[in-house]
Amino acid sequence: MLTVEPARPADAEAIHDLVTYWADKGDMLHRPLSEVFDAIRDFKVARLDGQFIGCGSLHIMGADLAEVRSLAVRDNVQLRGVGASIVAACIEDARAYGIDRVFALTYRPGFFEKQGFRLANVMEFPQKVWNECVRCPLFANCKEVAVVRDLSESVDLTVPFAQSWPPG
Ligand SMILES: CC(C)(COP(=O)(O)OP(=O)(O)OC[C@H]1O[C@@H](n2cnc3c(N)ncnc32)[C@H](O)[C@@H]1OP(=O)(O)O)[C@@H](O)C(=O)NCCC(=O)NCCS
Repeated sequence: MLTVEPARPADAEAIHDLVTYWADKGDMLHRPLSEVFDAIRDFKVARLDGQFIGCGSLHIMGADLAEVRSLAVRDNVQLRGVGASIVAACIEDARAYGIDRVFALTYRPGFFEKQGFRLANVMEFPQKVWNECVRCPLFANCKEVAVVRDLSESVDLTVPFAQSWPPG
C-alpha cells in the first residue's frame, strides 16, 4: 500500500540519500543533511508497504506563496503515481494554510504540467530569486524552469497508484 505522510526526523537520512542520488545525476540540486533536518517539518515521505520510496517538501515563502522542493522518487518505482501523490499531498497542505499559489523550479516541467502547473517566469517569484537563487553557484547558468499552480483554479487530478508494473 502507498502512503504519503509527514516526514519524521528519522527519515532525514533516507531523504538526503535519495536527493543526493538524483542530484549526482544532475536531475536536481543537492541538499545538505543539515538542511534536510532544518526543513524536516516541510517534508512529506511516500512509503510503499512501510518502506521509504520518495519525498518532497512544501516550503512557505509568503502569505500566499509556497514552493515544492526536493521532490524525488526511487528509480525502481518511477511512473507509478508516487511523484504525483507527493505533489498532491503538498497541494493539500498549501490549501490548508490558505496559500493561493504553489511554484517549483525544476528540470522536469512536463511532470509538473501534468499536475496542473503552468510554465512561469521565475521573476514571478522575486523573493525566491533575490533571497535564495542569487546564493546558488549555478545562478548565472541556471537551467531550472519555473512552474506554478494557482490553487483557486480547480483541476481534477485523481492519482491512481499502479500496484503492479507495468500499470494497466
Ligand atoms: C520527476 C519525478 C518526481 C516523477 O515521479 P514519478 O513517481 O515517476 O511520476 P508519476 O508516476 O507520479 O507521474 C505522474 C505523471 O507525470 C508523468 N511524468 C513523469 N515524469 C515525467 C517527466 N519527466 N516529464 C513529463 N511527464 C512526466 C507521468 O507519465 C504521469 O503521467 P500520467 O498522469 O499521464 O500517467 C521522478 O521521475 C524523479 O524522482 N525524478 C528524479 C528527481 C527529479 O527530477 N525531481 C524533479 C523535481 S526537481
